Amino acid sequence: MLEATSRKAGKLAGEAAIPGDKSVSHRALMLGALAIGTTRIEGLLEGEDILRTADAMQAMGATVERSDDGVWSVTGVGVGGLAEPEDVIDMGNAGTGARLMMGVLAGHDMTAFMTGDVSLRARPMERVSVPLREMGAQILARDGGRLPLAVVGASDPMPIEYRLPVPSAQVKSAVLLAGLSAPGETSVFEPEPTRDHTERMMRHFGATVRMETDTQGVRRVTLVGQPELTAADVTVPRDFSSAAFPMVAALLVPGSEIKLPGIGLNPHRSGLLTTLLEMGADIEQQNVREEGGEPIADLVVRTGPLKGVTVPPERAPSMIDEYQVLSVAAAFAAGETRMCGLAELRVKESDRLAAIADGLTANGVAVKIEGDDLIVTGRDGSVAGGGRVEVRHDHRTAMSFLVMGVATDAPVTVDDAAPMDTSFPGFTELMNGIGADISRGNE
Ligand code: S3P
Repeated sequence: MLEATSRKAGKLAGEAAIPGDKSVSHRALMLGALAIGTTRIEGLLEGEDILRTADAMQAMGATVERSDDGVWSVTGVGVGGLAEPEDVIDMGNAGTGARLMMGVLAGHDMTAFMTGDVSLRARPMERVSVPLREMGAQILARDGGRLPLAVVGASDPMPIEYRLPVPSAQVKSAVLLAGLSAPGETSVFEPEPTRDHTERMMRHFGATVRMETDTQGVRRVTLVGQPELTAADVTVPRDFSSAAFPMVAALLVPGSEIKLPGIGLNPHRSGLLTTLLEMGADIEQQNVREEGGEPIADLVVRTGPLKGVTVPPERAPSMIDEYQVLSVAAAFAAGETRMCGLAELRVKESDRLAAIADGLTANGVAVKIEGDDLIVTGRDGSVAGGGRVEVRHDHRTAMSFLVMGVATDAPVTVDDAAPMDTSFPGFTELMNGIGADISRGNE
């Protein structure tokens, strides 16, 4: 393991080019592989998780290539046209890649085996297997429904109506991806709406997808099955979840002002922005526009005092990957921040509730877990730091605590920097480029 250390920075300044969105990148590769023709993808995230998806699509007969200018192209085989992979598909650390891929496999009349790294092999997959079995696939997994597992795709997939028992865009997307191969209409009901990149991108490739919300706020997504998907170029927005790290760093280091151009602001993803603004953050949206069916804007972030807030549970799906970095912001705020309804954080790349609590405690911040709520007592600008944080194979834990170290009195060390490459290759260089002082290993 290669550790990394972050030391107190002078002011942060300048412009930073955040890499492409992880969620959109997975979907672009998968749907490109299921479309007829060649899809050009600009701004694809070249992180480990995405490269696993690219390899898997290639192993099943799509042609995936990168040109020297960084544009990727996928030549697809059409819905239902993928070939049985010769070897085990290894999804690495990628929960999204694995779960969406199960949906793709379930809609193909073939047998495929899937595994992942030690973190992914511990994560619950039964939430995806349950609806996919209803659609006719057979899934044989280890105890607890975990990887490695085998998917025997349905020869005649059935359309279903499925109500999500947990708010999860991954489960929704797996059902919709399998639904591409089913005749008739496949519907997913979401009591708490989650990110809608799959729906948007299926439409972009020519599928008919209806979205409606009833009077109780339940969202119904309906896909008309067996569409002819046609190649359609994709411009991947820059990842809001990755932008969150320099954004919080700039809020914390006195005298900072940074610009983050072209950040994806899908309303089902940007709950952190709402929360930070409620805390009093100075974040300006400039040049709001739409690109490739997704809203984007340039964000200008300036330092300022933050105050503690209560984050309601219904906001969780729109900021599910941002609680670690929000907890860091909360540590520097005045007063208490209560984040409610975080059960899903326990089954991410690591148990993030435990990881946040341990990391904050190691750096002199008082934190409590009450049921599924996390309570951080803010230190009003002055945090001791000096802790060593266990990353537990979780990229966002590593980046969040390195962000913390830019503003703590003593340096913060994370024990493993490698997982950052799954979603944010070049994190250290980007942060140092705007004035942070982060070193890897013995540098
Ligand atoms: C994702 C959905 C979320 C999120 C993950 C990406 C997606 O997971 O945590 O990083 O791209 O669909 P869940 O759907 O399990 O909440």
